[in-house]
Amino acid sequence: MNTSNIPLSRKQLTTEIRSMAEEKNAVILVHNYQLDEVQSIADFLGDSLELSRKAAETDAEIIVFCGVHFMAETASILSPEKTVLLPVADAGCPMADMITPEQLIEARIKHPDAVVVTYINSSAATKAFSDYCCTSANAQKITDSLPEGQKIIFTPDMNLGAWVTRKRSGHDILWPGYCPVHHRLEPWEILEKKKQFPNAQVMIHPEAPLDVLKLADVVESTGGMVKYVRNLPEGSQIIVGTESGMINRLRKERPDIIYISASPDTVCSNMKKTRLSHVHDALKFNQHVITVDEKTAVKAKKAILKMLEVV
Ligand code: 13P
Ligand code: SF4
Repeated sequence: MNTSNIPLSRKQLTTEIRSMAEEKNAVILVHNYQLDEVQSIADFLGDSLELSRKAAETDAEIIVFCGVHFMAETASILSPEKTVLLPVADAGCPMADMITPEQLIEARIKHPDAVVVTYINSSAATKAFSDYCCTSANAQKITDSLPEGQKIIFTPDMNLGAWVTRKRSGHDILWPGYCPVHHRLEPWEILEKKKQFPNAQVMIHPEAPLDVLKLADVVESTGGMVKYVRNLPEGSQIIVGTESGMINRLRKERPDIIYISASPDTVCSNMKKTRLSHVHDALKFNQHVITVDEKTAVKAKKAILKMLEVV
């Protein structure tokens, strides 16, 4: 342990993180958009769905969640007996704040016949008033599992909602929230890249607007993107429309593929807040503990478990 004031090197931070994790029986869950240095100390690296499953299954006493606040909250809902730590207290997701539980209750009163499907990028309190949760990896399966005539209120991501309900009757209600990072993607950027790289496939995250998604060959969650590139022929070219750090993650999987960023302006500053030093301090000082009050957690858990049952 560092008792002097000399800053620790990356190697020392890594060694101390691993030894504290072992000593304290902690598991380190890391989202695919995290910085490379943080990905390098992960026990599990994945998308929101894969990490929720790990949080539900783990035997560890402590879960260190390297991601954003709603992910740590979800882990705490699924494993309330465990200590869940978020290394940077203010790493949040702006989309999660685009709906409040009060607004959702109002929408439910207005549309009593609707089923509420809420994206996991939401607060625990919003999940508590939802029928189903979903992630970008299973949103399509969840909405497809509902009968055609069933009205859906999809919250809070209108883009993901538009994508997964595009073949339904058109009576569904899309809450006007969005991811500020993916919402910036524009069709012309994709068209220009396609012209520049005519042999490249286009792979886009479903948080992008519908007119952008319609130009894609592949629409996938971050975990789906990792699986997709694993099976590409050697030397393939692929235009990637998502948070810009994802290309580093994909390059680690398949370094021989040529990745072309769809847009230079897609950085999630919240996902990039966490550094190795924060993970180190999280374990050393048991910070920042994320909890959800029991009443909210019990209700939110029902919606999350319904999602985990469908897929
Ligand atoms: P997935 O990793 O589940 O695709 O989600 C992306 C995201 O924006 C997480 O905040
Ligand atoms: Fe939220 Fe978008 Fe960042 Fe994901 S990429 S955490 S949805 S702001």
